[in-house]
Amino acid sequence: MFNFSIFFPYSCTKNERRNLSEKHCLITGGSSGIGKWAAIEAVKLGANVSLIARNNDRLIKARDEISTYAISEKQKIQYFTLDISADYEHTEKTLCEVEKIMGAVYILINCAGTAICGTLENLSIKDAQYMVNLNFYGTLYTIKALLPRMKERKEGYIVITASQAALIGIYGLSVYSSTKFALRGLAESLYMEVKPHGIHVTLAMPPDTDTPGFEQEEKSKPLATSLISETGGLYKPEVVAEAIIRDTLDEKFFSTIGFKSGIVTALCSGMSPASSLSEVFLQSSVMGFMRLIAFYFSHSFLKIVKKCENIQ
Ligand SMILES: NC(=O)c1ccc[n+]([C@@H]2O[C@H](COP(=O)([O-])OP(=O)(O)OC[C@H]3O[C@@H](n4cnc5c(N)ncnc54)[C@H](OP(=O)(O)O)[C@@H]3O)[C@@H](O)[C@H]2O)c1
Repeated sequence: MFNFSIFFPYSCTKNERRNLSEKHCLITGGSSGIGKWAAIEAVKLGANVSLIARNNDRLIKARDEISTYAISEKQKIQYFTLDISADYEHTEKTLCEVEKIMGAVYILINCAGTAICGTLENLSIKDAQYMVNLNFYGTLYTIKALLPRMKERKEGYIVITASQAALIGIYGLSVYSSTKFALRGLAESLYMEVKPHGIHVTLAMPPDTDTPGFEQEEKSKPLATSLISETGGLYKPEVVAEAIIRDTLDEKFFSTIGFKSGIVTALCSGMSPASSLSEVFLQSSVMGFMRLIAFYFSHSFLKIVKKCENIQ
C-alpha cells in the first residue's frame, strides 16, 4: 500500500507547533513591511526574534515596536546589521555569531527583497543585477549559511518570500518576476532536499501589500503594471504576515492570501508539494475550469498593455 505519510508527515499537533516559546526566529528584512509584521506575529507566539537588515536606525525603531508585543519578559528581540546580498562568507560568519548569541535558528523567514519596475528595455543592468543579488542570492546565501545546523538538529522551518509574480510573468516586472520564479525553483528543490531531514519549506506568494517597499515600488511602476497588479487587491502587511506564520506552522508549501491569489496559486501548482490530500483533490477537480478563467485574465491583461501603449 502506498504510504502518503511520506508527503504529509505531521509530527506534532497544530497547537504544539504554535507555541514558539524559547524558539529562535530569524527574519531578514525584519525592520520593515511584511518582515516586521512577521516578527510581531512570531513574538506574539512567544519566540525569540532576530531582525536582519542594513539600516541601523530603522532596525532600532522596529526592535522597539516589536518588543511591545512580547508575551514574556524572558523573550529576546535583537537586531543585527547585515547586507545579505553582499558576500557569502560574511553572511555565514555573521549568522554563526547570531546563533551563538540567540540560539539555533528554528524558523528562518527570508523576507528581504525589492521590486524595481520597468520593462526589460527600460530597466538598467545595474538595477537588474541589484534585484538578482538581493532577491535571489540574498535568500540563497542566508539559507545556505544556516542549513547545516538545522539539518544537524533535524528540525526547523524555512520561509522563502516570493510573490504572485513568481507564478505569472507580468508586464513591467520582467526582472523582478524572474528573481521570484527562481525562488520558486529554489523552494521546490530545497523542499525535496530537506523534508526527509525534518525541515519544512514554505513559499510565500503575497499579492500587493501596503508596505514602505510597495510605496517605493509604485514610483517606478508603468501604468499597465499598476492596472494589472491592482486586479489582485491591496493587502495589509499584518494580514499577510499572519497568514505566512500560520501557513508555515501548518506546514503548507504555498502561503497565499485572497481569493484571486488562491486561484492563481492553485492553477500554477503543477508538481509542487501539497499540504494535504484534500488540497490535491480540490485542485485536480477544478483545474480544467480554472484554465479557462486564467486564459480570460491573461487575455484581458494583454488588452490593458495594448491600451496603455496605444496599440490597436
Ligand atoms: N509589498 C508587496 O506588495 C509585496 C508583494 C509580493 C512580494 N513582496 C516581497 O515581500 C518581501 C518584503 O517586501 P516589503 O514590501 O515588506 O519590503 P520593505 O518594506 O521594502 O522591507 C524590505 C526589508 O528588507 C531589508 N533589506 C533590503 N535590502 C537588504 C539587504 N541587502 N540586506 C538585508 N536586508 C535588506 C530592508 O531594510 P534595509 O533597507 O535597512 O536593509 C527592509 O527591512 C520582499 O521580498 C518583496 O519582494 C512584497
